[in-house]
Amino acid sequence: MSTATSSTVSTTQSPTPSQAPTAAPGRDHAPALERAFPDAFGEASYPLTEVTGTLPPALRGTYYVNGPARFARGGQRYGHWLDGDGMVAALALAGGRARLTHRYVRSHKLAAEEGAGRALFRAFGTGFEGDRLLHGLALASPVNVSVHPYRGKLLAFGEQGLPWELDPETLETRREHTFDGRLKAVTPFAAHPNFDAARGEMFNFGVSFSAASPSLNLYRFAAGGALVYRARHRLPWPCSIHDFGLSERFAVFHVSPYVMDMAAFRAGGATPMDCLRWRPELGTALWVFAREDGRLLHRTPIGEGYCLHMVHCHEAADLLHVDVLEMEEPVYDQYALPDLFPDARLAAIRRYTVDPRHGDLVARTELECRQMIDFPALDPRSGLGPYDSFWVLGIGAAASPGRKFFDRLLRYDRRQGGAADRYQAPPGCYLGGEPVFLPDPGRPGRGYTLCQELDARRGIMRFLLFDAFELAAGPLARLELRAPIHLGFHACWHPAA
Ligand SMILES: [Fe+2]
Repeated sequence: MSTATSSTVSTTQSPTPSQAPTAAPGRDHAPALERAFPDAFGEASYPLTEVTGTLPPALRGTYYVNGPARFARGGQRYGHWLDGDGMVAALALAGGRARLTHRYVRSHKLAAEEGAGRALFRAFGTGFEGDRLLHGLALASPVNVSVHPYRGKLLAFGEQGLPWELDPETLETRREHTFDGRLKAVTPFAAHPNFDAARGEMFNFGVSFSAASPSLNLYRFAAGGALVYRARHRLPWPCSIHDFGLSERFAVFHVSPYVMDMAAFRAGGATPMDCLRWRPELGTALWVFAREDGRLLHRTPIGEGYCLHMVHCHEAADLLHVDVLEMEEPVYDQYALPDLFPDARLAAIRRYTVDPRHGDLVARTELECRQMIDFPALDPRSGLGPYDSFWVLGIGAAASPGRKFFDRLLRYDRRQGGAADRYQAPPGCYLGGEPVFLPDPGRPGRGYTLCQELDARRGIMRFLLFDAFELAAGPLARLELRAPIHLGFHACWHPAA
């Protein structure tokens, strides 16, 4: 049943003046990209009947993806990709059939702004006349980064806020999830929890942005859901951290000097994006914590790179391997709408090997990478152990100035030292949604990967399902949507019981 809201618009409309494409320096590598970021997307739930190819009948479960989907309200438009209100989409697969549901996360922020008919809260990259902060302290989270099943519930996460609980099937928003009252709305809580599936534990973190006592908070939740600890550690500066890694015994953070100028932020009117400063001269380090009790064990200097996303962490032969996507500088300035990724930026795939007894850096190795990549995903059967392959979205034109976007799906193989396989989207088509791995129940080591593809000029969106080890052969199935939805950020696969 379609449940489109009255206040939403189709992506096929012409851009309003505020979203008309502006000239980006360099060549335009992403024609019509602005059509991926209309004012808003509608909500709906319906079976996907336009399927080209074959959906494996044994593939049963739901692919969930979260991402920014509402970019304007009452004529006020966000200017940054991270600002859009979160929408979760659920692609349910069973018996060779598919059903899609997509709904906004009805957070307090969304409800208040919907009631007012205008933007009320300052966003990460956009401010409005008379806007406000949550309790005068923090951003009201748009809940737009990730989504995870957790102890029978479905939780949607945003940066710097508590997750929101959704109905796993209808995606109806139920309530803010306070972990049985242990956490509060202003508790620093990030959008990248890590799970130990074997032990049923969840870990997460949050940065307390403060001029006087900035801190990194590490949380451990037991299999039963109880908060085991909240460990607070002083940071040298109030810096942006987006992700972390988890191994059998350690939690690992890539702490780099992307520093919030708190005085500028508190002075009023400025957004976090306005106030973040990249200060590579201060140095980057891996911070290694004991999982058991949250103690900080080591700070290992590793140069001056920036990491948005880790690939994986694992321990082998008493050494800790920390695999990261690293860049020379942060990437948030590349998310200005509608001309994303205007600068030439390449990513490096680095492995830092640390001796956890002393914190010494034992080795730094690198896979070959000649593009910008993001949203790394692994076969979940790897757990916290070693792996060979991971999947990412890539931007082929990353070495060239001019706006661009994700247009490749790649598999990197550590045994081959670089990219082993790739799918290239047709011209004018863009990819979205973390390409999660869907294990094939009948074939150990094999599986599928899934992402979105938007044909921006024709206003057509599809989900693409690939044999995860045959990307170049093209999708096994293309599932066309009735109308495009937002290009997602992080995703997960929840197999049917
Ligand atoms: Fe992320």
